[in-house]
Amino acid sequence: MGNARRPFLAGNWKMFKTISEALQMAAKLKPAVMTVKDADIALCATFTLLKPLADSLKDSNIMVGAQDVYWEEKGAFTGEVAPGQLLDAGCACVVIGHSERRQFFGETDETVNKKTKAALKAGLLPIVAVGELLAQREAGTTMQVVGTQLAGGLAGLSAADAAKITIAYEPVWAIGTGKTASPAQAQEVHAFIRGELRKMFGGTAEQMRIQYGGSVKPDNVDELMRQPDIDGALVGGAALEAESFARIVKFARG
Ligand code: PGA
Repeated sequence: MGNARRPFLAGNWKMFKTISEALQMAAKLKPAVMTVKDADIALCATFTLLKPLADSLKDSNIMVGAQDVYWEEKGAFTGEVAPGQLLDAGCACVVIGHSERRQFFGETDETVNKKTKAALKAGLLPIVAVGELLAQREAGTTMQVVGTQLAGGLAGLSAADAAKITIAYEPVWAIGTGKTASPAQAQEVHAFIRGELRKMFGGTAEQMRIQYGGSVKPDNVDELMRQPDIDGALVGGAALEAESFARIVKFARG
């Protein structure tokens, strides 16, 4: 661990698992990570899994998170789920602005901003995801893209609110492709993100956790976590099995 921030390892199950599959994995993961006291751990699952998963993890050190949220508290918004409903189901956190939502479901920096504010108001911890496409990296616009996503997604937040937010830097070209950003490539963007957060929130930026996401696996997590501005991981594929996710949670300290 390159810094004093408490590591935060979150699994993103995407649109995988039935209730029984989720409970089976939770039952295996719980004892496997029980002894980990120096990190926050979460599993972010589809809406139908949240309540049974949260019930099964009640007496554990694993939080449950959702993968999206709507920004209104209640009302005629067929198909949407409110922040209070996530809390009621046992969620502690929620991923907002994942690149799959940006690419396939019309998520914008403006909707990310509304969702982030609503989640905070309800008492959920937002994990706000940012990251560039391959074409943007190749065109040399990575920092510009990520900077715009941060400025838009976090607009109007106080430093006190910002302290509760985790940023997930996920280069889109590394998601589900087996192509991880090199630790140096990731660190470069993480340091840039920290600088942007400092401009927006001053010293609070030092407290804010920045996760790396994109093909994090048991065999690359240690080196990624050694980077000074990488404070955790948002893990897709390798979080679907208890053994590999437990190994990621137990990345090499020191
Ligand atoms: P991956 O997904 O670990 O399968 O690349 C990461 C994510 O999309 O959060």
